[in-house]
Amino acid sequence: MIYGKLFYRGEFVEAGVEVEEGRIKRIGKLVKGRKVNGIILPAGIDVHVHFRDFEEREKETIETGSLSALHGGICLVVDQPNTRPVVDNAETYFRRMEIAEKRSYVDYALNLALTNKNSERIAEEVEKIRKKYFLPAIGEVFLQNDKKELEIGYETLKKLNLNAKVTIHAEDPRFVERGFPNFLFRKKEAEIFAVEECEKIGNFHFCHLSTREAVERVSKGSFEVAPHHILLSVEDYNRLGDLVNVNPPLRQKSDADWLLRNFNRIQILASDHAPHTLEDKKNGSAGFPGVETTYPIFVELARRGFVSFRDLVEKIATNPAKVFGFRDYGEIEVGKFANFAVFDLKEVREIRAEDLHSLCGWTPYEGFKAVFPVQVYLRGEEVLQSQSRAGKVFGVSEV
Ligand code: NCD
Ligand code: ZN
Repeated sequence: MIYGKLFYRGEFVEAGVEVEEGRIKRIGKLVKGRKVNGIILPAGIDVHVHFRDFEEREKETIETGSLSALHGGICLVVDQPNTRPVVDNAETYFRRMEIAEKRSYVDYALNLALTNKNSERIAEEVEKIRKKYFLPAIGEVFLQNDKKELEIGYETLKKLNLNAKVTIHAEDPRFVERGFPNFLFRKKEAEIFAVEECEKIGNFHFCHLSTREAVERVSKGSFEVAPHHILLSVEDYNRLGDLVNVNPPLRQKSDADWLLRNFNRIQILASDHAPHTLEDKKNGSAGFPGVETTYPIFVELARRGFVSFRDLVEKIATNPAKVFGFRDYGEIEVGKFANFAVFDLKEVREIRAEDLHSLCGWTPYEGFKAVFPVQVYLRGEEVLQSQSRAGKVFGVSEV
């Protein structure tokens, strides 16, 4: 039982939460148990992380990535399958879930890849996986990849009749060239055109949309926006130097400002946590780490009034749960898992890479102000200070 200033049904109330077997049993005026200093928000869900591991353990592992998530107030992640080797079959999927089962600090789910190599038998693989695990989605499908073996064109998407959510990295290769910094070479049109084409084909989930034009074109599907497309722009190039590449690339300041001003229109805030070593960044690798900094930076923005707490909770917890079907997550509500992140709004700190837990050892947000959680509860257990490895993967029996 904890009590304090709780975010409940869109507003803050002074209340207590009673927990039984990991779930919220009662929310009420009772003030018993542990008094929590700070605000109690639902712990976040990050539906787009790349925790690497396998043969890229120098960049990140499920262990370090999930520890980073925990310190960022995230209780559940959806990992992406563009690992080495790629998670494009049930066997590799199971192998990864077994690592997560042993190593993850937070709850863990995994998408399955769709490539030219497995498109013929993808339905079978989906079926095998679903006998054992909850599969959030197929994707992110890399339309943008010019490597033959990964090139899934619009035609392939049309032919596939999948009974599963498909998430798309929406950049059309016809508008993409290679070069550094990549924002000079990857055109906005790549994203806008890809969203337009996919919307004609079916109902997709779009990963990390970075432009107003793309956001405005989504009508059937759902979408997420990454924090760096809201907080950073090409104007950060001098500061970021070698680190600047990310796909989709950073845009103009006016694009980023539009996303912040229209934060209420964004469905999901997801980090696209894509760690690379400093050596890889020097060689042009694209991607920013972000699973630990997203919630803390946006809590600071909410504290200062740039976004509302209501919008923030919706985009980082409630909507991700709804869109991906994590029905026990995303809200402080009777019956849901007791997953909370507690933020003390008096504890504003500057972000320093050395304080973060990702293996990659750097952040594009060095010096940014943020409010990190002081406590995180996972199914009722305080797990941040104890650093207990309470994360679990979803077996089908549990969903
Ligand atoms: C992603 C990665 O590194 O896995 N990088 C990125 O810039 N977002 C892959 C990708 O989405 O291109
Ligand atoms: Zn991507």
